[in-house]
Order: sequence, then structure tokens, then C-alpha cells
Amino acid sequence: MSTPDTQMNGESLYLAEQRKQELKQLFPGVFTETRDNNGELVETLDYERLKAELGNFSEIYDNRRERYGMDWPGKRDCLRLIQEPSRATLKPCREESVDFDTTENLFIEGDNLEALKLLQKSYYGKVKMIYIDPPYNTGKEFIYPDNFSESLDTYLQYAGLKDNEGRTFSTNTANEGRFHTKWLNMMYPRLYLARNLLREDGVIFISIDDNEVENLRRMCDEIFGEENFIAQFIWEKRTNRENRKIVSTRHDYIVCYSRNTWESDKPISQLPMNDKALASYKNPDNDPRGSWKSDPATAQAGHGTKSQFYDLGGPNGKVHKLESGRCWLYTEKVMAQAIEENRIWFGKNGNGVPRVKTYLEAKERGLTPETIFFAEDVGTTEAAKNKIKELFGGIAAFETPKPVQLLQTLLKLSSNPGIVLDFFAGSGSLAEAVYEENITASRTRFVLVQLPEPCDEGSEAEKIGMATIADIAKERIRRAGNRIREKVTEQLDLNGLTGNDLGFKVLKLNQSNFKLWQAPSKDISDDELLQQMDLNVDHIDPNASQEDLLYELLIKAGVMPTEKVERIELSGHTVFSVAEGTLLMHLEDDIDQALIDVVLVKAPSQFICLDKAFHGNDQLKTNAVKTFEAFSQGKEKIDQIDFKTV
Ligand SMILES: C[S@@+](CC[C@H](N)C(=O)[O-])C[C@H]1O[C@@H](n2cnc3c(N)ncnc32)[C@H](O)[C@@H]1O
Repeated sequence: MSTPDTQMNGESLYLAEQRKQELKQLFPGVFTETRDNNGELVETLDYERLKAELGNFSEIYDNRRERYGMDWPGKRDCLRLIQEPSRATLKPCREESVDFDTTENLFIEGDNLEALKLLQKSYYGKVKMIYIDPPYNTGKEFIYPDNFSESLDTYLQYAGLKDNEGRTFSTNTANEGRFHTKWLNMMYPRLYLARNLLREDGVIFISIDDNEVENLRRMCDEIFGEENFIAQFIWEKRTNRENRKIVSTRHDYIVCYSRNTWESDKPISQLPMNDKALASYKNPDNDPRGSWKSDPATAQAGHGTKSQFYDLGGPNGKVHKLESGRCWLYTEKVMAQAIEENRIWFGKNGNGVPRVKTYLEAKERGLTPETIFFAEDVGTTEAAKNKIKELFGGIAAFETPKPVQLLQTLLKLSSNPGIVLDFFAGSGSLAEAVYEENITASRTRFVLVQLPEPCDEGSEAEKIGMATIADIAKERIRRAGNRIREKVTEQLDLNGLTGNDLGFKVLKLNQSNFKLWQAPSKDISDDELLQQMDLNVDHIDPNASQEDLLYELLIKAGVMPTEKVERIELSGHTVFSVAEGTLLMHLEDDIDQALIDVVLVKAPSQFICLDKAFHGNDQLKTNAVKTFEAFSQGKEKIDQIDFKTV
């Protein structure tokens, strides 16, 4: 066989493997294991599943062969649900926000499935770290619509934004047959959509306990890819014993996956040295290289080469023999050199078991993270609850918060990232952790999503006027921000630290302000359809403010709702200028040629205005389209103006 043939084969094989990896990155769930003709397990592509991922469900799971993977009743509906676009919007709420116009932090009040769908365009591939603490499925604690296709309507009724027609969010009770299935159906679409938002070097951390950890791991293996599993951390959540239990559970898990381990050589960073770790570095022999700690000078025998098995002579002439099953860390020659350089420690009297010195060298030397987070380092549930109590003047406003230090540790592990997301925000602990980290470290921004779940009747939170858990979270973030502001101001006096973003913008899930985007339900009657069409003559909700429309259009145009927005005057009209004029939005009821001419001079990438602003003047509209087209043709592609009406 000639060499070129072989090379071509090699090349095509390599390309095929590369393409396979690319496909795997896009759709980790479409690869499965099947048995080949020899009965060997081989990795194969599940074509039906790939078709479903691309929106074709017709054949999925029909004529199914035996395959390795995770299936449960309702999974097919999950895939369908993922692809259904959202008919919702996020309404800005200035009154409940802090520093609305300048903050880059976001608090979304609403169901996280709808919220994740709405964020798909603007946050696609932009989130560095996701932390979630979802319901653990211990019974009666999570809510989601009974009917897959009605999630927005059910939410609107749940949140009191629409008359109730009898649809409900259901709780999951342990004696139900579909107990685990329901939890999987709730989690799968949310995790699937969340993955899309992660950056290539992003990571996700998920708190969970024994109830669902197995299901969660298998589901994440499918969604994120088994090869992207990083660790299943253990967090010591309590230090006291639960005496009424058969076995007292002292820990939760935090499961961690990366978006793409292939792309980022280190998806998880080292942790900064803490006092405990620093304390183990000493300098009993006044080594001029500075403080050191000692580590074993041997390794497992299986890891060694022939030259690592010898008798080692110590400085006092004592001969050190290897324990069975061990070899020396270095060859005899390298070891002799290390002893010569005083890098091996034989104890104070020089007769001890030889150990290798590891130098602190520089303080920034990091700690390799370990799979256990101890309570003394990151706090317990009880301590976290007490911290919230302190913030709320002695009121235990939230029962199950995670400690801020624990979340700060996770932020550090993901190297104090750009944008972080928590879509089961609870009392908003992640926001406080971000504020704390930002005092000394980078500029991390948060996006939190929390359902307006009513506070329990008679609960302490209800007694101080908190109607929902979202209210608790917002108040907690405000109070934490104020406390940190005071702390930072003190430090500012001391060492000139600059201020931080201690604000957050509140957006609330609601139905679209545009009737044309509120698709009629499938079982609508002809009369109802005609009625809806009549209503759509003016398709904009008359109660919607310009700012409501602005935010809906920003999100749907794929612009982050935290982008800088200014109101500017152009030719007698007020126009929204977004991201330093990259996008201009005119949301008044009137438009004229003079405004169009000024927009041309401003040359934004995109110009959006209301269709009704033309008042049926087709000539003006056609002229506008032509003018923008002509402008675009005369320019480099980068300078084109994308003109849209709604
Ligand atoms: C265990 S708590 C999170 C606690 C949080 N880590 C903290 O430190 O405060 C889970 C939260 O998820 C919220 N939740 C449940 N289903 C949700 C949904 N569909 N959308 C948004 N939030 C939801 C619940 O209201 C609950 O407050």
C-alpha cells in the first residue's frame, strides 16, 4: 500500500474524530453505548435522539433498540418543551431595583424555565459560572406546571398576574408513583437550557443530597457529557448530630461539570492559601529559601522505574530502606543532588524518615482544591441561617440558605468569573457572595432567578411583611449591599479602595407586550381566533410603558438587559440609545423623515421602531427601508444598519 493512501486515511480519520468531538460538544446526549456484533460495547450515535435535538420528534423512541442511557416517562416532552419558544417578557421594575441605570447585576422574578428561555439569545455562551441549589426532592417542596405546554399561563395565574382558570402548579409528594420522574422532568429542560449559557471555559456547580444525586449525575452525564465531570464535592453542612435519625447526615454534595474540558486546560482554579494551610509552612533549619513543609519522599511502587528502588544513605550514615510497595520519589542520582542542596528533611536529629521539602516560595502559591469542604472553612446551614437572621434584625427570614463563604469558595474555584448565574436563587446568597468577593477581587456580575413563591403562612418572614421568597431575596440583597457599602466606605478611608457595583436591576416575568408574539393556544375555536385577530389590529398592550417595550425588544434582539441605556433627543424625538449608540430604539407613536435622516448620521448597527409610528404611511416606510438599504450598500458590512419595525 502506498504512503499517500495511508496518510489520507489517517487525515480523514482524524477529521472524523474531530467532527465527532465537535458534535459531542454541541449535543453530548446524542452519543450512547450499544453492543456491536461481537457483543462489545461501542460508542454510537443515536440518530433518533439527534433528530429530536433538531426539532424532529416523529420517530423518536419508536422501534427503540436496547441502548445505554437514561430514559424516563416524559423525557420526550422535555425535549419538545426545550424547543418551544417563550411568549413571555421581562418587565423592568425600577422601584424594587438598586442603581437601576448603572448596575450590571440582574434579579429576575419568575419561573426559571421561562427565564432561561428568554436569556438564551442574550446570554448564549457568556456565563462563566452557574451555581444552583434546586429542590432536593424530599417531598412537597417543588412546584411546576402539571401540563408541560402551559408553563407560562400557569405561572401567570400562580403569580396572580392572570385570572385563575383552574390550572395549578403541583407539589411532588414521596408517595406518588412518579416521584423521581417528576423531578427529572422539572430539572432536565432547565439544565439543558442552562448549558447553552455557559462559556466554553464555564463550570456549573449543583447542590444536592442523597435523594437525587444518582439521577442528577446521570442526567448531567447526558447533558454536559461524562468527560466534563469535574468532581462531586462533599460539603459538611452541620457539625451537630441529628439524634432522631438512624444515621445522622452531615453533608450535602456539590456536583461540578465543566462546559468543555477539552477547550480549557484548567476549568477549576487553585484556591488561595488560607491561614490553616499557611500555618503548616515553617523554617526550623533556617533554610535560606524560606518556609517549607515536608511531604513523603516515596511513592507507590507501581509508579516507579527500576532506578527508583535503592537503599538511601542519610546524612548521619543511617541507611533507609523502602517499605514494601513503595519506591523513592526520585532516582538515586537526583536524590543525592537534593540531599546535597538540603532539600530533603531527615528530622531534627538527622535520623528521621526522609521527607521532601515543599517551599512556600511566594504567598500567591495556590492550594489544589480537595473534594471536601469543611464546615470550619466554609460554614454550615445553621451559621448561614444566623447570618440572615442578623441581617433581618433577629428574624429568621429564610430556613435553608447556603453559607456565603461556601459560595465565595465556588466563585474562587471558577477564578472569580465575569457573569455568574443562579436560577434557584432562594434568599439570594450568591448575590451576597459576589458583593463580598468584589470588595477585593474581580468585577463579577450576577444574574439571579427566583419564583415569587409565597412565604409560609405564619412564618417569621411573613410577619415582617415579606409576601414571597423573591421579596426576601431582594430585601436580603439590599441589606447585604448596604452593609458592604458601609464596610467598603470604611476601607476606602483606610486604603483608598474604589466603590463597587452593589446594585441590582429587577425584571419580572410577564406575558409579552406584543400580542403578535402571544401565539394562540392549539385548541382555540374559530370565533376566539377571529376575536384575537381583531384585538391584534393594535398589537401592543396599551398598558405597556416605553421602558417595558424597550426591555422586551432588547432581550428578543439578543442584547443583555444590563447594557447601558440612555434617552437621547434626536430631531425632536426621544430615542433610546443602547450600548453607546450601537442600537437605537424609537418607541414613540410618530416617526418622520427628519428622524430617519438623523439616525443615518448616527449610523447605529441596528435601528428599531414601532410599525404603528408610520400611521399607515406606506410611502414613508418604503422610503425608510430603501434609505437604510442604500446606506448599507454604500458601506463596509460592519457599518450596515439593520432596520426593524415591530
Ligand atoms: C433550596 S432553595 C435555594 C436556596 C439558596 N441557595 C440560598 O442560599 O438561599 C431553592 C429555591 O428555588 C426556588 N424555585 C423552585 N422552583 C423554581 C422555579 N421553577 N423557578 C425559580 N425558582 C424556583 C424555590 O422557591 C426555592 O426558594
